[in-house]
Amino acid sequence: MSAASIGSRADSLEMQAPADAASDNGGAGYQWEASDAQIAVAFGVDPAQIVRFDTNTSPRTPPQLANWLARAPLERLNEYPDATYEALTAAIAARHGVPPTSIVVGAGADELLDIAAKTCLSPGGRAVVATPTYGMYPVLSRQRAAMLVDAPRGAARDGFPLDADALVRAAAGAELVWLCDPNNPTGTAEPHGALLDLLGRLADGPGGGPVVVADEAYREFGGASLIGALGRFPRLVVVRTLSKAYGLAGIRVGYAVAQPALAARLAVVRPPGSISTLSAWIATAALADAAFASANVAAIVGERERFRAALLDAGWKVPPSVTNFLLVDADDPATADAAADRLLRRGLVPRRLGPGPLRGYLRLTVRTPEEDDRLLAALGTRPRS
Ligand SMILES: Cc1ncc(COP(=O)(O)O)c(C=O)c1O
Repeated sequence: MSAASIGSRADSLEMQAPADAASDNGGAGYQWEASDAQIAVAFGVDPAQIVRFDTNTSPRTPPQLANWLARAPLERLNEYPDATYEALTAAIAARHGVPPTSIVVGAGADELLDIAAKTCLSPGGRAVVATPTYGMYPVLSRQRAAMLVDAPRGAARDGFPLDADALVRAAAGAELVWLCDPNNPTGTAEPHGALLDLLGRLADGPGGGPVVVADEAYREFGGASLIGALGRFPRLVVVRTLSKAYGLAGIRVGYAVAQPALAARLAVVRPPGSISTLSAWIATAALADAAFASANVAAIVGERERFRAALLDAGWKVPPSVTNFLLVDADDPATADAAADRLLRRGLVPRRLGPGPLRGYLRLTVRTPEEDDRLLAALGTRPRS
């Protein structure tokens, strides 16, 4: 196992969406990230020393978790979960001030993205992405044998902005547009007004335009949600997760919010029991007590700025981020590879972002100050070229 093959998950695909991949349906596979145990063996490190800087998860769980679990309905684990997920759906609806009929729940945001692809994409239909972006969009589009069209984002020096004109052009006749805001892996968000303007232009297309999936996995960390705009956009689906700000990636709970008619279409392909009874219980409790999420976001954002300042001091180029991760521009693939290798040999797992325009970058999740300090010490100063 090499440094280049570790920490690649869908990110090997993240940059790969070709301009027009009509015939490129062979790449539908998805390579899961290496486990701690695999990395420990490959790099000869103690598994206890491994810290995941590659998964954009929270460095901590909610402190109330043990209390929630102590009150969990263990006596009902012989039965299937409530397939309507009524309590969880009600908690999400209350959290966002929308009717329960606007909510579709699933096993993480990824399941909602899959549900959206199954609902909206047909073989040969057009799906639009703006690369670099989250690697699941090409994977899910190809799984539906859809034609993937890229409207590439602008340059790093400009903050990787969406090219709205290119997106609108690419979306002509499209079934689905994948929008990630804040965007993974660039860590950037579009101005809210620009997003609303883009949604308006897309909705002007024939038949109300394509369905737009706005993936807001990192929304709690930055920018304004599009949930408030759902009343104006009947073909908009906003996807959220408890995996990031809520510190609950392991329970696998996410949800989509849309106007009831579109939510009902999505619900048709929702599996009846993909969220376990325990996960639904924990998620419902977490949503009712959002104090942890806001405190967690504040702590991560504060640490993100300290971590970034230290990386900048060490000579690395680190564009600003509005998420819980940072991009490190190592200038060239060889320097990025060498840095990744140095980190992995100490059990610190960065995300590689190749091939594509971010091949010379690393993506680093913001973790605890102690873990980030370990990474800073291992990474050292940027080699002078
Ligand atoms: C943009 C984006 N969407 C969705 C997901 C998946 O989230 P979940 O854990 O809820 O499936 C991720 C995870 O990294 C992500 O970066």
